[in-house]
Amino acid sequence: MSTTRGISRRGFAAAIGSMAGSRMLSEMAYAQRAAVPGALAEDMVWLNANENPAGPPKAAIEAMIKILPDSGRYHYQEYGAFYAAVAKSEDLAPEQVLIGAGSSEVLHAAVDAFTSPTRPLIAISPTYEGPIDVAQALGRKVIRVPLTSAYGADVKRLVEEAGTAGGGLIYLCNPNNPTASVTPKADIGYLVSNLPPNTIALIDEAYHHFAETPEMESALAYVRRDKNVIVSRTFSKIYGMAGLRAGYVCARPDLINQMSPFRNNVISIVAVRAVLAALADAPNFIPERRAKLLKTRQELCRWLEAKNLPYIESHANFLMIDLGREAKPVIAALPLKGVAVGRPFPPLTNMMRVSIGTDQEMARFREVFWSVYSA
Ligand SMILES: Cc1ncc(COP(=O)(O)O)c(C=O)c1O
Repeated sequence: MSTTRGISRRGFAAAIGSMAGSRMLSEMAYAQRAAVPGALAEDMVWLNANENPAGPPKAAIEAMIKILPDSGRYHYQEYGAFYAAVAKSEDLAPEQVLIGAGSSEVLHAAVDAFTSPTRPLIAISPTYEGPIDVAQALGRKVIRVPLTSAYGADVKRLVEEAGTAGGGLIYLCNPNNPTASVTPKADIGYLVSNLPPNTIALIDEAYHHFAETPEMESALAYVRRDKNVIVSRTFSKIYGMAGLRAGYVCARPDLINQMSPFRNNVISIVAVRAVLAALADAPNFIPERRAKLLKTRQELCRWLEAKNLPYIESHANFLMIDLGREAKPVIAALPLKGVAVGRPFPPLTNMMRVSIGTDQEMARFREVFWSVYSA
């Protein structure tokens, strides 16, 4: 019998229910973790929100410890330099960057600014639901464009839909969550070159650090060329700082100015200092983290192949496994045995998303998953 963290099943359901009806749903990182059914094991292996088990880099932890005694002050005078440092890390000017409490906040600002009663959100499907949920909460029309058979974005259809609608916001996640697939660079190029009037492309690159294929190319080059393109990035994934809530979008200054009024959080000085330290130290830990992750992911792939379980080739820190039957019951059963995996992602109803954790966590996943799946 697993122990609980002191929240009843009913209380949990009520909390999720009340969140679903409000703007608070925008905090998807929280919702993802919370949306685990049943009692929570104290030693739950969390493979449900694509976090990084390595956590914040050492330099960031030291910087946070150092600033804690001084966190009684706002430190607003430091924020100009902070925005400049984040912009510089992408070779951009400060006016081309908007920082938010996680990329969630600034993705939502993009939906607020660039959809309207006459401008829909046009999203690949399935994909990360954050921007879609906000658009729906705002009463905007959402047009879903199925992925290609190679799990890339169908860029021709995205362009066509935007043209037919008379403009809109195109949301394309690359690499995509939940499929961990990449939309090839030529297709991103096609999309940007063929954007209809009144149309902005929002390219979410939360997982770009994990993609090694030459087909993956950041859309930041288009931001630098002043195109109608917004690129979002986050410190929640390879940086391992999801709980600190820091992310940003990059775009032309006029687009940044339109999104800016919809941002309503200033990230804490503790997160600011962590981000600055992490950026300064990035060359020392990012390649190492990527290599470790790819090795652990590779081991999982080999195991799945030995079990004859197909999966989508992954370019991210998670993997989509084809169970060959309805995945929902397996997804629901795993947390009760101490392993939480990703929520269902219709229409891929036979697939289950698992985040890549430590080697130890993945060993536990294999054991528990196989006991449930083969029962
Ligand atoms: C594709 C994608 N974008 C954005 C986010 C939001 O992350 P955060 O707000 O922590 O930056 C997530 C979270 O899992 C995600 O998968």
